[in-house]
Amino acid sequence: MTRQLIYSGKAKDIYTTDDENVIIAQYKDQATAFNGGKKEKVAGKGQLNNQISSFIFEKLNAAGVATHFIKKISDTEQLNQRVEIIPLEVVLRNVTAGSFSKRFGVEEGIVLKTPIVEFYYKKDELDDPFINDEHIAFLDIASPEDVAYLKEETRRINRILTALFEAIDLTLVDFKLEFGYDKDGKIILADEFSPDNCRLWDAQGNHMDKDVFRRGLGELTDVYEIVWKKLQEVK
Ligand code: TMP
Ligand code: ASP
Repeated sequence: MTRQLIYSGKAKDIYTTDDENVIIAQYKDQATAFNGGKKEKVAGKGQLNNQISSFIFEKLNAAGVATHFIKKISDTEQLNQRVEIIPLEVVLRNVTAGSFSKRFGVEEGIVLKTPIVEFYYKKDELDDPFINDEHIAFLDIASPEDVAYLKEETRRINRILTALFEAIDLTLVDFKLEFGYDKDGKIILADEFSPDNCRLWDAQGNHMDKDVFRRGLGELTDVYEIVWKKLQEVK
């Protein structure tokens, strides 16, 4: 199989395959936070995130969510449909935390009556700014119909994953999704779902996600291992 590196991200490298509509995502042993401001090599992280994200995407595919995920092909690699990424980070919050608490001056841990969906403009040089529907229209990033679909689909994914994590006594506090257009122009879920891009709190309120790295609370792979072990109990 000829493979060429087409994109090198902070957490993954993307390679071509012999099929122009299929790519390989290789998960890296690297942790970053604050738009790359904090960066460390973390042995074993790539494998853990590939395992966790493959597992979650299999569950989403089985639940009828259209995703890019095809299959896991090695410890650190998976096959995905090639998409044109929509430059939006779609964040859903079930519980106040992180930048939400900071921006609005509210404590962390308040359960939101209705989950809140937010958009951020994926643009490193601008530090991924907060963006609303009208900015998205002005910048011609996606149509109003597509924005409505992204919101609804994100809420649906939230219902599936909240139940999944509840079953293993973890609260899905918030998460970030990315979507893309497939070869037929259809919007499908892309990127990854791992403790790198969600917050998971255990029953004691321990952080079981990348906040361990962001906030210097301990060994990142120790908590990712626990999440992976717990997920394997879900059948
Ligand atoms: P935030 O509270 O920092 O805005 O993060 C909200 C959620 O989005 C949290 O689960 C972490 C995730 N996230 C990413 O996946 N990538 C990012 O660049 C940021 C800022 C947050
Ligand atoms: N994903 C961003 C980074 O890698 C920020 C974060 O997750 O906190 O720098």
